Amino acid sequence: MRQNPFNPEVSLLRYEIREIVDFVQKLQELNPALVIENENIGDPVAKGWPIPPFLKSLMKEEIDRDGDKVFGYTHSRGNIDTRKWIANYAKRFSPTVDLDYENILITSGLGAGISALYHMLPKGLRIIQPSPSYPTHASMESFAAGSDAVTYKLDPLKEWQPDLEDLETQLKAHPEVIGILLINPNNPTGAIYSKETIEKVVSLAEQYELMIFSDEIYFRLVYNGETFVQITEIAKDRVPLVVMRGLSKDVPWPGGRCGWLEFHNTKLDSDYKKYADSVKNRVLMEVCSVSLPQFLLPRIYEHPDFEAWLAAYNKHLEENSQIISDILGRVKGLRVNRTNGAFYMMPTFGPGLLTNQQTLPIENEAVRKFVEEIVANPDLPLDKRFVYYLLANTDICSVPATSFFSPHYGFRITTLDYHPEKLKEIYEKLAKAIEGYLAS
Ligand SMILES: Cc1ncc(COP(=O)(O)O)c(C=O)c1O
Repeated sequence: MRQNPFNPEVSLLRYEIREIVDFVQKLQELNPALVIENENIGDPVAKGWPIPPFLKSLMKEEIDRDGDKVFGYTHSRGNIDTRKWIANYAKRFSPTVDLDYENILITSGLGAGISALYHMLPKGLRIIQPSPSYPTHASMESFAAGSDAVTYKLDPLKEWQPDLEDLETQLKAHPEVIGILLINPNNPTGAIYSKETIEKVVSLAEQYELMIFSDEIYFRLVYNGETFVQITEIAKDRVPLVVMRGLSKDVPWPGGRCGWLEFHNTKLDSDYKKYADSVKNRVLMEVCSVSLPQFLLPRIYEHPDFEAWLAAYNKHLEENSQIISDILGRVKGLRVNRTNGAFYMMPTFGPGLLTNQQTLPIENEAVRKFVEEIVANPDLPLDKRFVYYLLANTDICSVPATSFFSPHYGFRITTLDYHPEKLKEIYEKLAKAIEGYLAS
């Protein structure tokens, strides 16, 4: 090579939800009989959910439709009719929304939209991230900026709500911060935020002249009698606001790859408008996002069976969350929070409870040696060590909390299992393993 094409800043790109899969693959090579319980990834299809018949029929209809439009490219920023539908859909939940379809960008999964948002920020300017955060945000933001994320705390002792005092302290300390990221409902914690919290975040954004990025991909997944607060209502005409939503979580079709960005309040600030335009240009470079879900999107959400599907899904998530907190809540030393939205939970270990001496028995000799070699690394976070032992001992795959940029040791699980009996079996086994690990 004439010049080294390797970018050393790649170490800032961390996506442990998938990286743990490499570890699993290695275990499976060493022990081909291994069957893993994937509690690590938010994919209902992998967790046994049947595909609702209406979704399959819509797909078949679209593929057989005369004209075969679905096989071609769409408009580079997203099919125009679908973007007009999205503008109206936003209004349905937040009547004061005034969103032009030109301010909506459809991307191949929200992940692609998130990458574009951070990519177009001028180097050195930052979007403050929650800690813990969803890795695509924190990693893409740090990679774009070329240095570690600037974060504000979510408090595990207060149901993982944002620590608003810490947020303000960080905003004062970091003049390079030009925006605040909210993930609501939250991945990895399953928390949802109150009106007061959102009001305070908007006021801080106003006071420090910041924009807000609001990742709402789970906004239809809310239970326990809670309601989702629309930041679009609170932030209207007050601060620049980018809302991120998508299809991946509302129906079991995350492989469809369809998400979208909404740029609200663009008339408020000409610099923000220029930034929004730059993200639109960046998205053009991808030619277009996947066509099939774009054509189907309005018909999925308008289908007479959709709302019933969603209600049943939320009820199931609520029940699963209760079962898991009941089982894990009995484990001494583990802090388990109630979840009210999305399909994740992040229990944490009490301070000082994890050590680098704890273990769990591993039957397979080759697997044991492999794990022991990895955990011998003195820099390995203690919750990662726990997750590796847990996996090798019980076949249960979770993700360490530190992989979500969390200062607290713990692990993230998904609450998605379709079969309640199986769910109970997995979590009873997990609870026993934690007790064994802490006592070892
Ligand atoms: C908070 C959050 N944002 C964005 C995404 C990306 O979703 P998509 O499948 O649309 O890329 C996820 C996926 O898990 C997520 O949890």
